[in-house]
Formats: sequence, C-alpha cells, structure tokens
Amino acid sequence: MSATTSTDPNKPVQNRAVSNGIPPPSLDLPYPDGPQLITENLLKLTELCSDDRKKYIFKNLIKHVHQFINETSITTEEWMNTIQFLTRTGQICTPLRQEFILLSDVLGISALVDALNNPPISGGTESSVLGPFFTEDAPDVNNGDSIASEGKGEYMYVEGQVIDTHGKPVPNALIETWETDEFGFYDTQYADRQKPDCRGRLHTDKDGKYGYRAVVPVAYPIPGDGPVGELLLMLNRHNMRPNHLHMMVEASGYQTLTTALYPEGDSWLASDAVFGVKKSLVVSLNDVDNEQQARKCGFPKGSHFKLLKQDIVLVPAAESKAAREQYAKEHAVEVKL
Ligand code: BEZ
Ligand code: FE
Repeated sequence: MSATTSTDPNKPVQNRAVSNGIPPPSLDLPYPDGPQLITENLLKLTELCSDDRKKYIFKNLIKHVHQFINETSITTEEWMNTIQFLTRTGQICTPLRQEFILLSDVLGISALVDALNNPPISGGTESSVLGPFFTEDAPDVNNGDSIASEGKGEYMYVEGQVIDTHGKPVPNALIETWETDEFGFYDTQYADRQKPDCRGRLHTDKDGKYGYRAVVPVAYPIPGDGPVGELLLMLNRHNMRPNHLHMMVEASGYQTLTTALYPEGDSWLASDAVFGVKKSLVVSLNDVDNEQQARKCGFPKGSHFKLLKQDIVLVPAAESKAAREQYAKEHAVEVKL
C-alpha cells in the first residue's frame, strides 16, 4: 500500500506510516556515542517494561550479550555470518523439523533449562531432554503389551514400579514411551510412516507397577543435514546420541517427569551431542535366555530377550516448585547500570 501525501492541511492523511503508539520516553538519554552508552541507554529503556519478570530477563540478556560482543570484539563479517546462520536455522524449520530446538540442544541450553527446572530431590528420578521425536499420536497399550511391531529389533522387556519420593506407589500414572528401531530411526523419520511404531501410552496398575515389550534402542545421529549439522562439523563435534528409551510420566499431584534411560556400555554415553545423560539414568540390560519366560512376557518367538528393570520415582509438584523457587532465589542477580 502506498502512502497518500497531501498539501491540504484539512484533508485527512490516509495510510500514513505511524508509530506503535508508545510516546518518546521521558528519560534523560544521552546520544549513544560509544559502546558503553549504547548498553546503558538500552538498559534504561528496558526499565519501561511493565512486566517485572520479562524486564529482569531482558536486562540480563542485554548485559550478557553486550558483554560477549565487547569481550570477543566480534567483527562485522562474523556477526553477519551469525545472522545468516540463524536465518538458515529458521528457514529449515517446519512443524516436524525444529532446527532451533536442535540448536538449543547442541548448545546445552535445553539440558540446562531442564536441569534448573527439575532439580533432583530426595531420590526422585532425574529428568532428561525431551527431544524432537515425541508425538501426540502414540497408541494406548495395556500393561504387558508391546509398543513395537514385530521385526523392529532385538526384544526388550521393560518393567518397574512408579512410586513417589516418600515410597508411596503411584497407581494409574500415565507413561508415554518412545524409542528408535534397530536401525536408529524413529518412526517419524520414515517418509512412508503409516502409523506410530516404537511408541506407546500405558498406565500403571493399582500398585504403581508397569511393564511393556519394546526393542533394544540403538545409538543414532541427530539430524545433520541442516545448519546445526554444519555447526557441529565446524566445531569438530560428533552428532551422536547414545542409545536410550524415552519415558514421560504424568500423575495428578506430581511434577511431570520427562526422562530417558540409557543402557550402560554405549560408547557415546559421556559425550552425548545434546547433554542428556545423567549418571543416575544409566541402566543395565540383563540377558534372559529362557523360552518359558519369553512366552510369559508375550514375545512370540525365541527364548532370548533383554530385561530392563527400572523403578520411577516422582516428586510431589509442591516440593518440585519449592526447589525451583529456592534455586532461583539463590542465583538471582541484580543488573546494575
Ligand atoms: C532425542 O533424544 O530424541 C533427541 C534429543 C535432542 C535432539 C535430538 C534428538
Ligand atoms: Fe531420542
């Protein structure tokens, strides 16, 4: 739309470029002559924000980003390269491909946010990163059923009890679980995906117990064909995640737990590309070679399977909230001009 100009002062001006409605601030701002004044003026302007939490976050963001720019003396070319990288990161995003989340993951930001929001409390099962492969369409399965269709990999039986930090069983907790097949791919990575596979939703029984058939997950590379993949190559970092089984456990009155279990012995455990592994989440898979037991667990053939026994300990929501608030209080810093 083009602006209309008029020399007649009584004629209303249509389509004129207008401001966002916020008047010039009544602040005594010096002209931003020099690096320090740019930062100081911006911090003063940020005081205008009426939301205290957002103001606090932005003041800290400004302080740290400006400090980073100053300390690294970043060149104009380097900054333009950064902007182009971020532009490419945005351009490759689709509802199924979230490259910004992947960027947050490989920079350890997702793991850090997760760690701060889910502080370990008196024996509660620790959290791990959600990752981009959770879907809303996992099928409901009964306790003891399989989450993987036949032929998806080596048999694995997963069982345990969901209890809380006081040792009380948690009946009817919802467990959402998902994993790769034996080739290291999630179902969503197959272009011809007809239905969900290697994922399911089940509930604990009256004693908090759960069990399901699955397959042994395998290590896999996070998507490497985009800007994040280029970044890892540039930094000489691999893009592997150790094998793992995702679990999200939800029950009324408890902090929802998003976690993953990492079978021991994987060579990528200590250098997981997205910093998801915690020592307490490394588990043993036991070999079972017993035909009767295999049938009892519902495996249709053979005698061999791996057994993963893992209890899950949920933290009452109020305890989790109090721990987060305590941490935030201890670490809060005031941004001074
Ligand atoms: C995952 O475990 O599914 C995952 C997590 C972060 C980035 C990529 C994948
Ligand atoms: Fe995963």
